[in-house]
Amino acid sequence: MLAAQTKQSENISREYTYTQADFEKVKKMIYASTGISLSDSKMNMVYSRLARRLRVHSLKSFKEYLNLLENAGSAEQQEFVNALTTNLTAFFRENHHFPILEQHLKTCKKPQPVNVNDSPDLKDYLEKRRNQQKIHIWCNASSTGEEPYSIAITAIRAFNSMTPPVHILATDIDTQVLQKAREGVYSLDRVEKLPQNVLKEFFYKGKGKNEGLVRVRDEVRELITFRRLNLLDDNWLIRGDFQAIFCRNVMIYFDKETQYKMLKKFVPLLDDGGLLFAGHSESLQHAADLFKLRSNTVYEVAKK
Ligand SMILES: C[S@@+](CC[C@H](N)C(=O)[O-])C[C@H]1O[C@@H](n2cnc3c(N)ncnc32)[C@H](O)[C@@H]1O
Repeated sequence: MLAAQTKQSENISREYTYTQADFEKVKKMIYASTGISLSDSKMNMVYSRLARRLRVHSLKSFKEYLNLLENAGSAEQQEFVNALTTNLTAFFRENHHFPILEQHLKTCKKPQPVNVNDSPDLKDYLEKRRNQQKIHIWCNASSTGEEPYSIAITAIRAFNSMTPPVHILATDIDTQVLQKAREGVYSLDRVEKLPQNVLKEFFYKGKGKNEGLVRVRDEVRELITFRRLNLLDDNWLIRGDFQAIFCRNVMIYFDKETQYKMLKKFVPLLDDGGLLFAGHSESLQHAADLFKLRSNTVYEVAKK
């Protein structure tokens, strides 16, 4: 089977020399750095995604590129990761999660109000802390931003305020999608399925040279902090007390062992009653000691 594949892949006429051995090396490298487990059927996908990088460096073969990658600094390694991640996403994807989130935000432990008059000496400090009394949500694998913006819009609706007491940490390993997410600018086809009132309330419509584009309103963007974070890293350097963690459609790229390790690290980060939202094809049955099903792909901690 492997020999047949090698032959087939070597016989395809391609701009750059690309062998089964190159593909195996790519698989190893991307697995080691991101946990993404590429199946054998992805050989052509890898070629077309990485060919761009060979073009940038004016190389002739994948072998040359992989050698360069091994000796290159982190900038090219990040480009390699950016090229191989799959970033498919959409506003209000898996829509059934958002009413559950809205209800959860309305009923979960509210930020504790701080009475600044209790301690006049500490007034400044307490004022500052009062402003920090937020419900925290972590959206990891946030891709180009549609998911965290959908969460932010849901929070605004839950509190009926453009400044709800909610803060969203949105992370991804791919620096290119994070940049796009921070900008919050989308073409009209990305928002065509959104109801008109949502478009009007939460987006600016581009005019002139920005015709055909929309930008997420500043108030919505201000609820989110975007950061690079590799879910495979041992230390995420983030504090706990999240009322919700969105980890959707990324576990499918990981093997069960990697999924379990990551899920175990979510447990202490969730506040009491906190919810974990998973993707539609991501079952947590193998981690039943950590999470139990609350409703359709929404989980809560089994025990702490
Ligand atoms: C298919 S998208 C899912 C986007 C969004 N969560 C959704 O459900 O619409 C998968 C995302 O996971 C990110 N990703 C893959 N491996 C990762 C890792 N090790 N750490 C963090 N993010 C990762 C990719 O960059 C990509 O943006």
